[in-house]
Amino acid sequence: MKIEKVGVVGCGLMGSGIAQVAAGAGLPTVVIEVDERRLEEGVGRIDSFLEKGVERGKLTPDQKKEILSRLDPSTRLEKLSDVDVVIEAVLEDLAVKKELFGKLDAILKPEAIRCSNTSSLCITEMAAATKHPQRFVGLHFFNPVPLMKVVEIIPALTTDPRATDAVQGLARRLGKTPVLAPDRPGFIVNRLLVPYLLDAIRALEEGVGTREDIDAGMKLGCGYPMGPFELLDFVGLDTTYYIANIMFDEFREKRFAPPPLLRRMVLAGHLGRKSGRGFYDYSGKA
Ligand code: 3HC
Repeated sequence: MKIEKVGVVGCGLMGSGIAQVAAGAGLPTVVIEVDERRLEEGVGRIDSFLEKGVERGKLTPDQKKEILSRLDPSTRLEKLSDVDVVIEAVLEDLAVKKELFGKLDAILKPEAIRCSNTSSLCITEMAAATKHPQRFVGLHFFNPVPLMKVVEIIPALTTDPRATDAVQGLARRLGKTPVLAPDRPGFIVNRLLVPYLLDAIRALEEGVGTREDIDAGMKLGCGYPMGPFELLDFVGLDTTYYIANIMFDEFREKRFAPPPLLRRMVLAGHLGRKSGRGFYDYSGKA
């Protein structure tokens, strides 16, 4: 199962990062979005990340040009007909993902490996919706994709171990450390991270400390790069709420239950950095 050409579906925050690291690793990469506006936005995000990399001396202008030249952005799924692996990074909605993988069955080479970057949906359920459940693997990246060094590899119940091995090899080629995770909500990282973030909200609700003091405590006391409220704003409160609910539905354990404040902030549209306001105010920032 050789991987020489990559396809990425979705050029949002995660998809653009994945396409960037694939092209950065020397692999020709097709990246798909539903319309030209979103495609331009996604490619623009890659361009500006690489440009900042040039400014920081992490790569040369020629290397940036080469990476961009390996990217083939398109709005046509048919462009994926010759890729060896496709990585789905579209909306976190099972129906949307299943429909996409159904369409891909008619386009991809039969031997192509299908991956999903889902953070919380069931890998086995998505695999079962394709014609090739033995070649379906969860491949979960972390935000910001070019900087975070780990990926979770999640075989479905039906996955051929050779497909898992091939995806592990791909992860290494992308400069990431692969960790093998079970097909259970939250995999490894979110299973531990989300209860921690929810607990921080509960601590705030209970008056344990201010958000600033809790953040400072965890950053300076534990060496975390961000405090829990900074990280909640970074990940998105809606995303955290969504993942917590999926974990709570599956495990029925209190530690996964979203606290009332989180639900209310989501209802109020205080989603974090993306909406300009979460636990902190970003309205004055670019
Ligand atoms: N190109 C190349 N390198 C760059 C770069 C660029 N455009 N931008 C930054 N970098 C490099 C910097 O040069 C620096 O490298 P160095 O240490 O070798 O000098 C490093 O990246 C850090 O950059 P900065 O100093 O500018 O940024 P910070 O120190 O503020 O770190 C951060 C930013 C990496 C985002 C850090 O705050 C962090 O790790 N935060 C936690 C993020 C996290 O936990 N993400 C996971 C979220 S959970 C998730 O995604 C799962 C989902 O399912 C919810």
